[in-house]
Amino acid sequence: MSVGGATTMELYEQLTAQGDKVRSLKTAKADKADVDAAIQLLLKLKVDYKEVTGQDYKAGCPPSGTAVSNDRQSENGGEEDTVDPWNVATNSAKGVDYDKLIVRFGSSKIDQELVDRIEKVSGQKPHRFLRRGIFFSHRDMNQVLDAYEKQKSFYLYTGRGPSSQAMHVGHLIPFVFTKWLQDVFDIPLVIQLTDDEKYLWKDLSLEDCHRFAEENAKDIIACGFDVNKTFIFSDLDYMGSSPEFYRNVVKVQKHVTFNQVKGIFGFSDSDCIGKISFPAIQAAPAFSSSFPQIFKGRKDVQCLIPCAIDQDPYFRMTRDVAPRIGYPKPALLHSTFFPALQGAQTKMSASDANSSIFLTDTPKQIKNKVNKHAFSGGKDTIEEHREQGGNPDIDVAFMYLTFFMEDDEQLEKIRQDYTSGILLTGELKKMLIETLQPMITAHQENRKNVTDEMVKQFMTPRPLNFNF
Ligand code: TYM
Repeated sequence: MSVGGATTMELYEQLTAQGDKVRSLKTAKADKADVDAAIQLLLKLKVDYKEVTGQDYKAGCPPSGTAVSNDRQSENGGEEDTVDPWNVATNSAKGVDYDKLIVRFGSSKIDQELVDRIEKVSGQKPHRFLRRGIFFSHRDMNQVLDAYEKQKSFYLYTGRGPSSQAMHVGHLIPFVFTKWLQDVFDIPLVIQLTDDEKYLWKDLSLEDCHRFAEENAKDIIACGFDVNKTFIFSDLDYMGSSPEFYRNVVKVQKHVTFNQVKGIFGFSDSDCIGKISFPAIQAAPAFSSSFPQIFKGRKDVQCLIPCAIDQDPYFRMTRDVAPRIGYPKPALLHSTFFPALQGAQTKMSASDANSSIFLTDTPKQIKNKVNKHAFSGGKDTIEEHREQGGNPDIDVAFMYLTFFMEDDEQLEKIRQDYTSGILLTGELKKMLIETLQPMITAHQENRKNVTDEMVKQFMTPRPLNFNF
């Protein structure tokens, strides 16, 4: 979904009209309160305009084309990268240009200095996702670490939109990393299951979405979260049972305009009103007062959100609202996308079964999918490959290994051997199959051990093992 030129143009026209209004009020020496109110609205519209276009409003200079799309221009053949909660697409076989995305989204790069600092503060070797730039972008992580060093704790918040029974391997990325963060920092974690969101966006019944939330909770629990430190909730259940949560939803709703969500999410006038107000529901868990049972009513516990960067629009909005409703801005850690089997032009997505390896796939299915669909950076014939070598930068099997192979030296050797032509595509795919099969079988074993009773425990609002 992208922001159409009409929305940008509409904003431009509103701004022009508001500028005219301010001028005519001043000329008419109108009441000061009226002039001030008109100026306030003008300033607000300017902020909205900058949010949508990335540029300052200039009277007499209407926006050209689609402004956010202009932001999205990449050098990958002059086409734009699309990254939002619903679509990820680029023309480059290497994947999204993440450095440009950092500039466009206004986040900060996770550089070696920050990785070293996380190592120093946590006292643990950085997770391979940090060592390899898979978690590549952040907002305010240094602030979280500063406070942690002064014994001020924080909490983790992440989530899942339960659109189907089966999650795919890409979904594991934020959860595996969140588990590591929880272990090394020893902090509470809340996990939102947005069954309401999936009902609003997909052609699914409420009952199905709620059922998928409970099924997905089993996969999440199977990642090894500690029940004493983790609260998992379905929006459909928790919203109705927690007055504090709903109060925060309403506070956010009051402070974000329709224009803003149109600008951020590309909603149109024909989207249902549930969609338009939903971002407030994804924002609320970023405020500690939404969980009085855990934080004993404290409003000031800092939140850190690990997620792939597609979710950032929700949290740009949340960070914008937070100080206006008296809460700290949540910090973020963003990951790159686990690519589709067919190539890094798009992310692995549950809505395209052929693009995905599901957590329910059998060893045989994994083998067939990798052999049949995984895009190869190898050459057409063995002779050519031996002579010229393969390209790991566009090879899906190699990319997947960077996510899941723990040993840095082994991974580097594979990269070199593939590049030089010593290692063939078939051999590389075999290594991937042999990495994925035991990993997914182990996940399935863990999931089998997750009982309905355990799900209920994780999903019951209750105090966690922390003193706030
Ligand atoms: P959902 O269900 O689309 O995705 C769940 C989490 O997985 C990440 N993700 C991926 N990461 C790497 N590679 C991929 N191919 C890939 N596909 C999805 C997403 O970024 C997300 O972190 N609206 C959300 C649910 C949600 C949420 C949150 C997510 C509610 N609150 C707070 C993160 C943080 C959704 O539909 O996620």
